[in-house]
Amino acid sequence: MKRVSLISLLLGAATLSTATIAASVTYYKDVLPILQNHCQTCHRPGQLAPVSFLTYKETRPWAESIKYLVAAKRMPPWFAETPYSPVVARHPALTVREIETIVRWVDEGAVAGDPKDAPPPTYEQEGRRRVDQRQPFSAARREIPPFH
Ligand code: HEC
Repeated sequence: MKRVSLISLLLGAATLSTATIAASVTYYKDVLPILQNHCQTCHRPGQLAPVSFLTYKETRPWAESIKYLVAAKRMPPWFAETPYSPVVARHPALTVREIETIVRWVDEGAVAGDPKDAPPPTYEQEGRRRVDQRQPFSAARREIPPFH
């Protein structure tokens, strides 16, 4: 009797978690395409931004910061009133839907999902290379004005 209830409890929990995962916004299916279009030009090794978002492993620790910055419309940055305005043309703001997708992804636990859902990589070569992403700011980077 005791064993039966334990089993049904476990089965119940398993069904529940499968359902939750199936309903989730996932990194590979929903978030990676947004990162490719709006973030990876800067957020990859050797570029302007201090952290890389090419892979799930690199992106996951930043999930809370990403949610905060995109919801506050601070990322992607907007350099419209600076000499960096050409950047603006290549980095249009996220749509409301894209922001909602990222917020939901983080709220649901920032799950990876199925790598088979991923779009083709945009920067495959650099993605294979590990670099120290926390090096001191370069002279070029120091010229970027802070955004508020
Ligand atoms: C035009 C280049 C550019 C684009 C595009 C861009 N970022 Fe950034 N991002 C930066 C730079 C530069 C910094 C560092 C700025 C700073 O910390 O003052 C940064 C910092 C960040 C940080 C904080 C890292 C830290 O050290 O705390 C997060 C999180 C982030 N960006 C997320 C995003 C997301 C998500 C997108 C896409 C929606 C995005 N960024 C698009 C240039 C960019």
